[in-house]
Amino acid sequence: MFRIAILFGLSAAVIGAHDIITTKITWSKEMSRLVYKRCAMCHRDGGSAFSLMSYEVARPWAKAIKEEVLERRMPPWQAVKGFGEFKNDRGLTQEELEVISDWVEGGAPEGDPQFLPPPPKPAEWLDPASPAGAGQVDIAGGTKIDAPISVVAIRPKSLNKGATVQVVAMRPDGTFAPLVWIYQFNPDFARTYYYQSPVALPAGTEILMSPEGNGTFSLFAVGDSAPARKTRLAR
Ligand code: HEC
Repeated sequence: MFRIAILFGLSAAVIGAHDIITTKITWSKEMSRLVYKRCAMCHRDGGSAFSLMSYEVARPWAKAIKEEVLERRMPPWQAVKGFGEFKNDRGLTQEELEVISDWVEGGAPEGDPQFLPPPPKPAEWLDPASPAGAGQVDIAGGTKIDAPISVVAIRPKSLNKGATVQVVAMRPDGTFAPLVWIYQFNPDFARTYYYQSPVALPAGTEILMSPEGNGTFSLFAVGDSAPARKTRLAR
């Protein structure tokens, strides 16, 4: 009897008194797959951050995981979704956010380990800093594009840490192309955003940044023009 009481007391302490499981989402099924796909390239043994590769090591981080992803600090993609379409988009989808949120709120259960997926293969998180064969055009708010260019990617160049800034191209016909909207820039996680399809900017296009004065970006452009030579900073 005494022995049973001790055992019971121990396991209650380990599980935690208020972790009542109220979700069907489990680590073994949904969360492990999500973390392997979206977080493992950094959060693994030998990666750039602490490991989140097993239930045992991830469980203590549950609350922090929810907070980081809802605040959009993790994974560090830094571009607001829906503003510019990027083929290397690494931001979590709304559904993925809900899986994480439900799992954490529902008591972060493990589930049956027999459903665990095989461990992920090592994957590259960072795409090349600049696309091969593209010219580079550095832009600030007010920059005028003097010759037509076809923009394949954009990257923060010298952007203030913590800056939230929208970059838009205003074409001479009055149409706008959203280029990127950076949220709380962290230079440690600076990356190049590759457009789904090239963004055509005719001569006379003006770059608008809102708010202004936070720094510069680089556009990577292809086409028959030599953009770097034909573009000047307007201010
Ligand atoms: C590009 C690499 C990278 C990716 C991808 C990434 N992280 Fe991180 N994460 C980091 C780094 C670096 C830190 C800081 C590590 C440290 O302080 O040891 C961090 C910190 C964290 C923290 C701790 C924050 C704190 O200090 O409280 C959490 C929680 C976290 N990440 C969760 C996630 C989750 C969940 C994912 C996937 C959805 C993810 N991360 C994807 C690199 C990454």
